[in-house]
Amino acid sequence: MIVVSTRKDLTESLSSARAGGLRLGLVPTMGYLHEGHLSLVEIARREADLVAVSVFVNPLQFGPGEDLDRYPRNLDQDLELLRQRGADLVFAPSVEEMYPFGMPEVTVDPGPTAQALCGRYRPGHFGGVLTVVARLIGLFRPQLAVFGQKDYQQVTLIRKMVRDLELGVSIGLAPIIREKDGLALSSRNVFLSPEERSQAIGLWRGLSAVQTAFRDGERSVPALRSLLLKELGQHQLLELQYAEFVHPETLDATELAEPGFVVALAAFCGRTRLIDNHIFAE
Ligand code: PAJ
Repeated sequence: MIVVSTRKDLTESLSSARAGGLRLGLVPTMGYLHEGHLSLVEIARREADLVAVSVFVNPLQFGPGEDLDRYPRNLDQDLELLRQRGADLVFAPSVEEMYPFGMPEVTVDPGPTAQALCGRYRPGHFGGVLTVVARLIGLFRPQLAVFGQKDYQQVTLIRKMVRDLELGVSIGLAPIIREKDGLALSSRNVFLSPEERSQAIGLWRGLSAVQTAFRDGERSVPALRSLLLKELGQHQLLELQYAEFVHPETLDATELAEPGFVVALAAFCGRTRLIDNHIFAE
């Protein structure tokens, strides 16, 4: 596995692969890797000849008062995990290397879909995400980039950016990897105290209750929402930020759930903000 930290070394490492006509798959991450990230690497390995992973905590996507400074990092451990999983190339740049001209003057405007869900509570976040992802796509010029459903709004916006700006990369979507009890894996789960950790499963319990009712034929969003809120309410350390039932592409709120529609939620568990979602299936 080749590890590089500069754009120059990255371009050099990629040039022979490009010359050989290999299909390049990119997995962008902020590191502190877990099985969720590693499942993206597996998908890229299946669908590409060469798998590249970026590890970069992107300051552009953190708002004032968010957890940029305390975001967990452990590059040595990340490299070990990526080696085990057969990644071919890792790019782990410093902030100065990623943004050599200072913070970019020209950034990506994520448009109206960024106003929904998390975007309402994290102004500027998705502009920061799309700008770094556009930069990574420009640096790697991969044929495939893989993202997780865990960040549903993020992958939706990335798809729209690739479509609207004609970036010429296919976007792979990876299902949510969960702990045995249902908590979605997240780098931020390390912040949970044992008591918070035991309450955090309320998110999945709520989503499961809603999916069961949906499968039993319930389509009314007010009815599904009250089921969800009832389940969440049984977990007192969860402070709900939003719970929305939305169209899978526009992310517009709906009053009637359909297969393929999404229920998405965000909640604080102590100081830690958790998100989760589920795509309705019959
Ligand atoms: P990060 O939070 O490190 O996540 C990197 C990728 O892993 C994202 O595509 C995310 O959806 C996916 N992922 C995280 N948890 C997952 C889980 N439990 N199951 C499946 N996939 C999971 O998302 C980012 O970084 C950044 O915003 C980034 C796209 C790298 C831009 O900075």
